[in-house]
Amino acid sequence: MAKRITKKITIVGCGPGAINYITPAGLECIHNADVLIGSKRLLDTFPLIKSGAEKIKIEKNYRPLLNKIILLSRTKNVVILVSGDPGFYSYARLVIEKLGRANCNIIPGISSVQFAFASIGKSWHDAHFVTLHGRQKGIDGLIKAVKKHDTVAALIDKSISLKTLAHELLMAGITKRKIFVCENLSLPDERVREFNPVSLQSADADGLNVIIILNQSCHSERSEESRPYKR
Ligand SMILES: C[S@@+](CC[C@H](N)C(=O)[O-])C[C@H]1O[C@@H](n2cnc3c(N)ncnc32)[C@H](O)[C@@H]1O
Repeated sequence: MAKRITKKITIVGCGPGAINYITPAGLECIHNADVLIGSKRLLDTFPLIKSGAEKIKIEKNYRPLLNKIILLSRTKNVVILVSGDPGFYSYARLVIEKLGRANCNIIPGISSVQFAFASIGKSWHDAHFVTLHGRQKGIDGLIKAVKKHDTVAALIDKSISLKTLAHELLMAGITKRKIFVCENLSLPDERVREFNPVSLQSADADGLNVIIILNQSCHSERSEESRPYKR
């Protein structure tokens, strides 16, 4: 059973990365925090917001950190920063499971997938989502999803290369797809590029990536391979 804590902790969805994509409600919570908890990247995004706030980095300590969060919340205003939206593959799930929903205040954020679909001008209401973030073995699941669904969005990290992804798609006989690699969204080094399974073989990627894979027969538009998108 979830433990009762004295102050509600707040989980803020920080959006894809640029500070102007976080909601005003999220920023207000960050301003009022006594303790800010998040990845190095997110803590670095808010260096000047409140000098007095204690900062705790989330690394591999995310499970033991849950007990510390409970202790801190007895006397302090604890704010946990997560990237994108808290409801989409984030630390929020573990925190809510441990502390109980009644003890958490959740501020939504713009998810990287929302941002990616906006960047390519496509709807995402019928999309199927897969994460390979920290799960290199998830590639089989991604291939199955691509066979079954016309619109697939995948979160990937450095553990999987685009070359490997291209290889797996081609090995599975998937040759006709539009593949959008949406990298470092909202950040100064953002790149949004279009490929097909063959051209993806020679693509590079660095940093944070959302991959959108569309079945061409359902998304029939003029195709321009390896086309860089400019917002
Ligand atoms: C742990 S998941 C968190 C997802 C997050 N809760 C969301 O709603 O976007 C981290 C993954 O999100 C994606 N991601 C986060 N920020 C991104 C950005 N600015 N550009 C592209 N992908 C991003 C990457 O696939 C990264 O590996």
